[in-house]
Amino acid sequence: MKFETLAVSGFIDLKKQNNAVSTPIYANTAYSFDSVQHAVDLFDLKVAGDIYTRISNPSWDMVEKRLAALEGGVGALITSSGQAAVLITMLNLAEAGDEIVTTDKIYGGTYNLFSKTFKQMGIKFVFVNSDNLEDYEKAITEKTKCIYTETLGNPSIKVADIEGLAKIAHKHGIPLVVDNTVPTPYLCRPIEFGADIVVHSTTKYLSGHGNAMGGAIIDSGKFDWSQNDKFKMFTTPDESYHGVIYNQVFGEAAFIVKARTHLMRDLGCCQSPFNAYLTQLGIETLHVRMDRHCENALKLAEYLEKHPHINFVNYPLLKSSPDYELAQKYLKKGGSSLIGFGVDGDGTKFIEALKLFVHATNLGDVHSVITYPAGTTHRQLSEEQKIKAGITNDFMRASVGLENIDDIIEDIDNAIKVSRS
Ligand SMILES: Cc1ncc(COP(=O)(O)O)c(C=O)c1O
Repeated sequence: MKFETLAVSGFIDLKKQNNAVSTPIYANTAYSFDSVQHAVDLFDLKVAGDIYTRISNPSWDMVEKRLAALEGGVGALITSSGQAAVLITMLNLAEAGDEIVTTDKIYGGTYNLFSKTFKQMGIKFVFVNSDNLEDYEKAITEKTKCIYTETLGNPSIKVADIEGLAKIAHKHGIPLVVDNTVPTPYLCRPIEFGADIVVHSTTKYLSGHGNAMGGAIIDSGKFDWSQNDKFKMFTTPDESYHGVIYNQVFGEAAFIVKARTHLMRDLGCCQSPFNAYLTQLGIETLHVRMDRHCENALKLAEYLEKHPHINFVNYPLLKSSPDYELAQKYLKKGGSSLIGFGVDGDGTKFIEALKLFVHATNLGDVHSVITYPAGTTHRQLSEEQKIKAGITNDFMRASVGLENIDDIIEDIDNAIKVSRS
């Protein structure tokens, strides 16, 4: 099946769902066991099946199967939020004393999670402040367990060189983890460029309507966890499952099975079946929405670039973008909806004059959303950290929605005028 068909019709089993055309919501927490032996086998991971909605649910299953197929992976796990997806992924790879190499051009919430919460757990994140691949390689030590990046950095809107990073990671026997929230698999499939694990905030484009928190982890199934002794969690017995060795029993799905059976079981950051249902509906229209997001964003970026009172415009598909070449390789179908720009005027007046754009901290919604990172999402960073993350005081981040582009441009144009009055 092609992408669009998978998104709309993939994995529907009409008989199993009483011929209901829209997959129902399984709003249950528990599942009855066929026999005591059946329960024992489920708990020993000897047979597949549902035990409790903290670990799996049929409403998740549909979303997980579709996401795994759309990203080109062997399995997926959905989570309560994007933050939870990143948390589980990192804890599935690293323990106290380990290190992870990343960039400082990542989403502010992920930056905090890495620099504060993981520090408390004894896991050290090294933030590379450069686009140079050699600088990533220099940051790798014997203790490094993965390289982590965002395909399109939020809010810096930098395009990652996924293939280059994957080569470095694999040379050092570690996986590459990519947050693919902003392009979604419709615009970029990181696994095709060598990424091993993909994570998402499904809160954004995948659910698409600003109404369902959620996250996802997709396992490419390609990383060999037994190639060195860095990933003993997959190659040695797990006592909490009667000594199961994930790599031996689950083969290429070892990572995603352990993420679910060990970490989701223990941490409980699970998605509600209702949110899974909303996410599934969102995925069914993803391709149609993404095309319009991209079309509107490119038109607005081109307009802003010519505007005399705009200090700069970041959009990877502008020919003037330093990332234009990378975007040609990784974003062939479009540059997604995020635009960064600097207003030569009063930032507060600009934000408050907008009538169509909603002032909020979200992206990937059908509504156009404006965010003022220096005053909100990145407020907690020091001045030095803000500069490193590319957040200046005039920096606005727009997520261009699906309204008519003429109305979108008129709204921004009017707010620029007010900001200078
Ligand atoms: C790129 C990226 N990753 C992860 C997250 C965290 O996702 P959530 O808000 O669903 O926890 C966000 C949220 O804005 C994000 O933009």
